[in-house]
Amino acid sequence: MASTAVELIKDLSTPAFVVDLDIVKRNASVMLARFQKLGVQLRPHMKTHKTLECADIMTGGSRRCIVVSTLAEASFFADHGYDDILYAYPLPFDKVERCAELSEKLSLFHVLVDSSLALQELKRRPLKQGKAWHVWMKLDCNNGRAGVPHAEPAALQLAQEISETEGVELTGIYAHCGNSYGSKGEEQIKAVAQETTTFTLQFVEKLKAVGVKGPKSSIGSTPSCSHPVPDMAMLSEVHPGNYIFYDVQQSLIGSCRLEDVAVRVLTRVIGHYPHKNQLLVDCGWTALSHDGGGRLPTGYAVIEGHPDIKLVSMTQEHGRVEPVSGKLDFSQFPLGSMLSLMPYHACATAVMHPVYYVHSKGKIVGTWKPTRGW
Ligand SMILES: Cc1ncc(COP(=O)(O)O)c(C=O)c1O
Repeated sequence: MASTAVELIKDLSTPAFVVDLDIVKRNASVMLARFQKLGVQLRPHMKTHKTLECADIMTGGSRRCIVVSTLAEASFFADHGYDDILYAYPLPFDKVERCAELSEKLSLFHVLVDSSLALQELKRRPLKQGKAWHVWMKLDCNNGRAGVPHAEPAALQLAQEISETEGVELTGIYAHCGNSYGSKGEEQIKAVAQETTTFTLQFVEKLKAVGVKGPKSSIGSTPSCSHPVPDMAMLSEVHPGNYIFYDVQQSLIGSCRLEDVAVRVLTRVIGHYPHKNQLLVDCGWTALSHDGGGRLPTGYAVIEGHPDIKLVSMTQEHGRVEPVSGKLDFSQFPLGSMLSLMPYHACATAVMHPVYYVHSKGKIVGTWKPTRGW
């Protein structure tokens, strides 16, 4: 880990994104142990943090078996010794050549398709050294974003077509239960986890019945992998990512407790405006993101230790803070004092920062530099 001149997070220049290393390690080991016990391979997603250090923690040091959301992440991890990388994004046609190069360089690089046209693009670019494309088919199990709807004959047809295509191997079936984000509490999360698991496993059975044997199955999201159902033991893999940091959104869904949230944005008070009953802080949307739309009772974030104040709005570099009700006691928040914001959505907040300050009990132990771009 790189070092920094400042020793304590309370002395950092703000706004700053800070990561509690002890919580990160705990979140990682809980998830690793949970799926080891179920006998299912954990293939953690890198999209939340996009750093080598955090990837090492999530993979338990194996540097194998990860999911990425951008090719920039794929190249970054491949360049730093990672292998068995699944690019879990509907194959963008402008990126086939870069995918081919990664497939030729790594021992295992996987792509994802959900259309016959994408498959044709792969066929047009056979891999060198007699290698086969490792292809996962994206199945939509009622999430409703990407993938072929699980019950449509087109899903079975596409999987068969992939398995019969020369130079291509149908490695697995990938379903992402993003619909678990609409849940409230463990019971609802488990209902989505069960539905996605059942549809995915049924689909693999249907494939077997038509002679397509062997593709793996993978589902997952942070909510469903935080509260897995027993049938998930029949899957080959799971692919959660956000759990490494968790956030306020996850605590509201019921995936975690607020104590499990590993990240904060530190900000300082830069203005007192009694005529507006308002404080100004140096955290705008470039430091926190607008994700969540200010829907929390405390606005865009939970302000640690101050349930009575609310981040009501942000411009690019400024944040406005007001009391949840009544008159603001400005003496509690002197100019220059620090506030600690727990983000609504850690992935959206992390991506705003070029450097993460990593600490243990407030003492900075290093900095992590994420990769960016697509
Ligand atoms: C395709 C895909 N797989 C896995 C994940 C990881 O899910 P989560 O962020 O809930 O951990 C995501 C998250 O958006 C995703 O889009």
